[in-house]
Amino acid sequence: MITIIGAGSTTAASLIPILLQETDAPLQLVSSRPLAYEDVRITQSTIDVRDKNVLKETIMKSQPEVIINLAAVTNVDKCESDKQTCWDVNVTLVENLARLARIVDARMVHVSTDYVFDGQKGPYAETAVPHPISYYGKSKLAGENACIVGSMQAAVVRTNVVYGPFVERPDFVRWVLDALESRTPIRVVNDQYSNPTYVDDISESILRIIQKKRSGIYHVGGADYCSRYEFALRIAEFFRADPSNISPVTTAELKQPARRPLKGGLITLKAETDLGMKMRGIESGLSTIRHLMFAK
Ligand SMILES: NC(=O)c1ccc[n+]([C@@H]2O[C@H](COP(=O)([O-])OP(=O)(O)OC[C@H]3O[C@@H](n4cnc5c(N)ncnc54)[C@H](OP(=O)(O)O)[C@@H]3O)[C@@H](O)[C@H]2O)c1
Repeated sequence: MITIIGAGSTTAASLIPILLQETDAPLQLVSSRPLAYEDVRITQSTIDVRDKNVLKETIMKSQPEVIINLAAVTNVDKCESDKQTCWDVNVTLVENLARLARIVDARMVHVSTDYVFDGQKGPYAETAVPHPISYYGKSKLAGENACIVGSMQAAVVRTNVVYGPFVERPDFVRWVLDALESRTPIRVVNDQYSNPTYVDDISESILRIIQKKRSGIYHVGGADYCSRYEFALRIAEFFRADPSNISPVTTAELKQPARRPLKGGLITLKAETDLGMKMRGIESGLSTIRHLMFAK
């Protein structure tokens, strides 16, 4: 049994079909809401994962071999204004899961972020020393530590700027495409750098970590390193849209509530060599999205 916490997340929407196809394990989907999956191998638990007792009951009943945690408060600015919820989900939940993983002897895979770094000199390798500059980043670093210290067999997958084909789950690519389509002017930061990650590369890495029984930290990111502004222009170019509504802005000018790492991003050599991953570049990720858009 593989249990997925946060089964309604963007990443889960990619991971669940991949696990169904590439493994024969039964899947327990744990989410705050009922999800539209129909498969004989899937069971669903609709619970509030912050309720420690209900979470314990859910895990003890299913006795999973693997627990994958995708639940997180991912709105970086909201984490500054609602620190309690951020901590409850990004840290306390992970502590509880790690304890339960130890009790049922499950491997744990937890997903984290390049926002654990300060962005002074990215992209970062797994050996770089974290230094978060936002509450979100601090909570995610505390969550990583809770996972690694609390569970016996834990892997942490750090990723950044995740995008995928999901129309109903707005990500950066969807935001830019919607703006291009409606000819809405947008300002995009030209001094925040990352390597945008096609969501299937995270799922594939998680799958390989499980199959190879790996533990420790793995960085998963795309093959191209660029600013958000450059990424937006590449989206416009790829979809042959007029880029004139996309204008550059600096992070200082934008005045977002949470501080952002500027030179962020992740070096993915370990995942490439140890897991055999080949990370997609922007062109390849956008091609897949276009293919899926036209396949509908
Ligand atoms: N998206 C990115 O660009 C990005 C970048 C770097 C790292 N990451 C990391 O990747 C992981 C997955 O991210 P994602 O973008 O796939 O997540 P997401 O789409 O934002 O979904 C997160 C899920 O967490 C659960 N959740 C959120 N708030 C909650 C609350 N208050 N109480 C209980 N559960 C709550 C929900 O699960 P249910 O719907 O199942 O209830 C939600 O769907 C996270 O650990 C995130 O930090 C993401």
